[in-house]
Amino acid sequence: MANSFKKNCIVLHENCTTALDSRRVESKIDLSFLDPPFNQDKAYNMWNDNLPPAKYWRWMHEICAKVYALTAEGGAIYFMQREKNTEFVLRCLHDTGWTFQNLIIWKKKTSAIPGSKRFGKHYQIITFATKGKTPRIFHRLRIDPPLPVGYKHARENGMFVTDVWDDIRELTAGYFAGDEALRDGEGNRLHKQQSPTQLLLRIILSSTNPGDVVLDPFAGSGTTLVVAEQLKRRSIGIELDSHNVAVIQNRLAEQRKSDDVSRFFKDYACTPDLETIWGARGLNRKSASSAETDSKQMAFLESNQ
Ligand SMILES: C[S@@+](CC[C@H](N)C(=O)[O-])C[C@H]1O[C@@H](n2cnc3c(N)ncnc32)[C@H](O)[C@@H]1O
Repeated sequence: MANSFKKNCIVLHENCTTALDSRRVESKIDLSFLDPPFNQDKAYNMWNDNLPPAKYWRWMHEICAKVYALTAEGGAIYFMQREKNTEFVLRCLHDTGWTFQNLIIWKKKTSAIPGSKRFGKHYQIITFATKGKTPRIFHRLRIDPPLPVGYKHARENGMFVTDVWDDIRELTAGYFAGDEALRDGEGNRLHKQQSPTQLLLRIILSSTNPGDVVLDPFAGSGTTLVVAEQLKRRSIGIELDSHNVAVIQNRLAEQRKSDDVSRFFKDYACTPDLETIWGARGLNRKSASSAETDSKQMAFLESNQ
């Protein structure tokens, strides 16, 4: 299948099960974001989202093992799933060699999914794990969310991001989807599982440095690549569906205002050395080190052609 390149991004129009072959992806991966189909009978063009559970988890196991083999020592994986599958995700990561770091609760700002026999469901899990005991990179980001009711004094210097993320809105179908959700001419969502750029921003900032390589084996609408590009990280996205590949290519070719993550810079303003972590330092001044990064990036792209 043809590969396509945009600056520091590679988009592979393929099945990730075969594309994640260590003989083909030469670069060591620093961070992977896994947002696979959740096997809940959603309408995907190219994928049966209703596999027998055992088959589905064997597949996830295979993907986690392949990503592990491609990952640099200390590299990270963030595996997103429904909360009811937590035990399977943890087992999958454990059995393929990953070291557990956090079970992140992404409490979406949207309404809970109601339940008549159990509590309404209000969050999704994102398991953060690493290759080896210690992450190679972990930036302790600081944010300064609005004070809870009753707090009298503003924080002096924000607070560290914890494992509960309740400040990132999901892109829903309705009113709250906002401008960020990609739509066709008739207003229909182009990809119903499009992740918010804010989510990928937090993950990429926390676990990589500029110049590092980010992998998304289930690239969907390309959110990971779009954010990685802005943060001066290199990225590889794999996507099975040609419609989605076209969406990714368009999204990368011309950055939409609603994909611009610089609007979130102020949210992390309390983080020490944020400009360096963000990859924003020297944007308009070409330094010796950025020239060196450029040449490494070119070598990376060429080795994948
Ligand atoms: C949950 S969506 C990912 C959404 C993505 N995070 C975004 O922001 O758009 C999962 C994607 O995986 C793709 N997919 C399913 N099976 C695949 C496979 N075997 N290889 C590569 N992509 C696959 C689907 O077409 C779908 O676009």
